[in-house]
This record gives sequence, C-alpha cells and structure tokens, in this order.
Amino acid sequence: TSILILNGPNLNLLGTRQPEVYGTTTLLDIEHRCKAIAIELGVAMSFQQDNSEGALVDHIHAARGTHDGIILNAGAYTHTSVALMDAISSVELPVIELHLSNIHAREEFRHKSFIAPVALGVICGFGAAGYGHALRAMTEHLRAAA
Ligand code: DQA
Repeated sequence: TSILILNGPNLNLLGTRQPEVYGTTTLLDIEHRCKAIAIELGVAMSFQQDNSEGALVDHIHAARGTHDGIILNAGAYTHTSVALMDAISSVELPVIELHLSNIHAREEFRHKSFIAPVALGVICGFGAAGYGHALRAMTEHLRAAA
C-alpha cells in the first residue's frame, strides 16, 4: 500500500506563514511526523509540495500506477481549480481533501471546494494533526477495499 501526500501553493511557508491560522509546525516537521505514522501503519508514503497548478496536475497523473491513494492539501487551488478536479476524476484513485484550517469557519470564498465533489472525504480544522488523521483514514479505506 502506497499513499501520496500532495501539498499545494504556499504550504512550503508553513511555520512562518500566518501562524495564528496555520500553526508553527513546518512542512518538513509534518513530513517527518507522516513518515513515522506511515511506518507505524505499515504503508509506504511519498510527500510532495508544489506551488504551481500544472505541476500538481502532473503529480496526480503520475500517482496512477505508483500510489493507491492521494491525500491532497491543494491550498488556494482548492477553491479555484477545475483542472485539479478533472485530474482527480481522470486517475480514479481515492483522494482525501485535507486542510489545516477549518475552511468553513473562514471567508466565504474558502467554503467552495472543487475537490470535495470528487473526494472520498474531507478532513479540515485539525491543524498539522490532520495529516496523521488523513493517513489513518486512507489506510483504513484501502485495507477495507482490498
Ligand atoms: C488551506 C486552506 C486554503 O483556503 C488556503 O488557501 C491554504 C491552506 C489549509 O490547509 O488550511 O493555502 O488549504
């Protein structure tokens, strides 16, 4: 079982970016925690970040055949990207939409997600811990489906 954790724009700045909203944990810290949780769960994991929409589309395409599921924090592209939505529909892999913040408790423009309609489920509002919750949820889903 192999899971891709894919991060979108500005998430490379975690730790210093609006810590009152996103916390002080860096993306590297999150990656290290995810690696430890993946080992505990007995799954393989890849962790990637890109600021550009096309590169994220490429990562989703490349996941077909190499990963069994994707955990996607698409950042602001969540609220704008038909291209990411179409990429997810095209590869037919289960996707968990993930956000550190509770997007529904924030500005109106963050309430709309292009990812949610094509996602297995959505985890938001649990900060950095959400990555671990998503890994566990995806692992359980893949094991139940196997
Ligand atoms: C985010 C929420 C998005 O609205 C925002 O644009 C981000 C981060 C989150 O993890 O809370 O970049 O995806």
